[in-house]
Amino acid sequence: MEFAHRHLLGIEQLSQADITTILDLAETYVDLNRRAAKRSDVLAGLTQINMFFENSTRTQASFELAGLRLGADVMNMSMQASSIKKGETLIDTAMTLNAMHPDLLVVRHPHSGAVDLLAQKVNCAVLNAGDGRHEHPTQALLDALTIRRAKGRLHRLNIAICGDVAHSRVARSNLILLGKMENRIRLIGPPTLVPAQFAKFGAEVYDDMREGLQGVDVVMMLRLQKERMDGGFIPSEREYFYRYGLDAEKLALAAPDAIVMHPGPMNRGVEIDGTLADDINRSVIQEQVEMGVAVRMAAMELLARNLGGTA
Ligand code: NCD
Repeated sequence: MEFAHRHLLGIEQLSQADITTILDLAETYVDLNRRAAKRSDVLAGLTQINMFFENSTRTQASFELAGLRLGADVMNMSMQASSIKKGETLIDTAMTLNAMHPDLLVVRHPHSGAVDLLAQKVNCAVLNAGDGRHEHPTQALLDALTIRRAKGRLHRLNIAICGDVAHSRVARSNLILLGKMENRIRLIGPPTLVPAQFAKFGAEVYDDMREGLQGVDVVMMLRLQKERMDGGFIPSEREYFYRYGLDAEKLALAAPDAIVMHPGPMNRGVEIDGTLADDINRSVIQEQVEMGVAVRMAAMELLARNLGGTA
């Protein structure tokens, strides 16, 4: 298994073979995670620090569990209580932690590009857990694993990514990954949330959801990122749900076996109908969470193998 990267900063830097390597290794961890005894020691002796400068439930919990299950010493920095609040810069905080010799640094930050910058300053492996609107590579990888398991393949699928594409690092990383794996991608949403320049990723853009969903194999919904909006992107949440919210009636336009995805956190009744989100015959939202732990274990193992003299 060849994986020649020091960091995992984005899907952009990965080849088709890299993506397959991570997903194949993650499969072995799906099995491990379903056993009663979930412990491996591939990261034993290594130190993992999680630095989340933005709120997170799934991603932080899943990186923490992934590290613990692989035997690493895991520390969660509480960034709300850190010296950032006293005016210390991101880089100074990172350099301070770097001096304590971590091996893996997991970073989420509200500014696009902040994690790349940090990776240039430290000498451990850095994993991007989401930077601004830029990338969220482990989310795209866990989505890919979920799709591959549900559909039996990860190429030549028709995939709709719907909603707030403009503010979404999840959409961006998914577009890049699913494009690299040779799928057909449709972006669906109002022009305010799906800017035309996204067509440059090779996707077809639709503002009519009923038209865009015709025959697709995968429907990926996105959260309305209200915290990243500074004005009138949508008329009202009610109107938005009517036009762009996924419910059983709109889903009926997709392929009969189409799966429903959402990275979480969900706004029920805004971008997705709550009953549909809970329908285990259509929704793979819980599988996405399960795959998240396995994919993060795989990514950390592969990066750890490239650390000097360890693993
Ligand atoms: C996403 C994120 O933070 O980018 N959530 C996640 O990591 N599962 C999506 C979102 O916040 O809507």
